Amino acid sequence: MSKIAFIGLGNMGYPMAGHLARLGHSVTVFNRTASRARAWCLEHGGTQAATPAEAAAGADFIMSCVGNDDDLRQIILAKNGVLEGIQPGALLVDHTTVSAALARELAASLAVRSAGFIDAPVSGGQQGATSGQLAIMCGGSSADVERARPVMEGYARAITHMGPAGSGQLTKMVNQICVAGLLEALAEGMYFAEKAGLDVQKVIDVISQGAASSWQMVNRHKTMIAGDYEHGFAVDWMRKDLAICLDEARRLGLELPVTEQVDGRYARVQDMGGGRWDTSSLLAVLKSGR
Ligand SMILES: NC(=O)c1ccc[n+]([C@@H]2O[C@H](COP(=O)([O-])OP(=O)(O)OC[C@H]3O[C@@H](n4cnc5c(N)ncnc54)[C@H](OP(=O)(O)O)[C@@H]3O)[C@@H](O)[C@H]2O)c1
Repeated sequence: MSKIAFIGLGNMGYPMAGHLARLGHSVTVFNRTASRARAWCLEHGGTQAATPAEAAAGADFIMSCVGNDDDLRQIILAKNGVLEGIQPGALLVDHTTVSAALARELAASLAVRSAGFIDAPVSGGQQGATSGQLAIMCGGSSADVERARPVMEGYARAITHMGPAGSGQLTKMVNQICVAGLLEALAEGMYFAEKAGLDVQKVIDVISQGAASSWQMVNRHKTMIAGDYEHGFAVDWMRKDLAICLDEARRLGLELPVTEQVDGRYARVQDMGGGRWDTSSLLAVLKSGR
């Protein structure tokens, strides 16, 4: 069992840290909103730290899952950040979806402290975090990935080493590019089914057995039919991810026409007040006629 710090107890981090505590690791948590860390400790019996530096002190592994590039910089590099508390030989495993450039920068900053870093963004949603069934794509040295593997297995069903620092984030970009177009297609299909007078549930029941099936179709159609979007992966986060993808594509000199278009559709969800709605809410845009 290891001494582990977990920073960021949001939709994803809260259940992920919970799995580690249940497995018997000694877990210290930090969250910006302290009441959430208190609630986590009451549920799981870990220790609450006052700062990221305090959480990192003495830990073998530091896992982070915060929001975006700025948030990650803040908890690692700012005053009272992880870099101030981390011990030589420790390993930082970041599960946040951020730019590949930041992953490479953090790997270099940690190396100066003789500490390791892997970028380890996840896929599988809140459900995957809760059931411990995430897919994790890792960038860094293979030795560091293998060292972190037994810990990450506490909440993952697949852990793949993709290459040097930043490769995990580049892989996550591919995931988000694939998901964006797919979600718009799913919303358009369901919208079409309803307007054509079909029983949408029956349509999904049959087509999910064939070539059009997807994780989103299987796991999101019921809430889409109900118009319930108060769960899951927030549109604000998706727009953050698509900005990262489009930035990287520009750097590579590539056009991603569908991804760009879907990003614009998500801007409309935000205009409807749906920044925290699940990404399946593209159907709400179609229904609103915006
Ligand atoms: N949700 C999903 O389905 C999903 C799936 C795959 C990947 N991801 C990625 O995983 C990451 C987390 O997603 P999430 O859904 O768990 O987000 P979330 O529910 O918004 O949680 C983010 C957490 O990070 C903390 N945080 C943010 N900025 C911070 C800062 N500057 N200092 C300290 N703590 C800070 C927040 O603290 P507060 O409590 O104070 O807000 C919150 O606990 C994101 O990068 C997201 O893109 C999410």
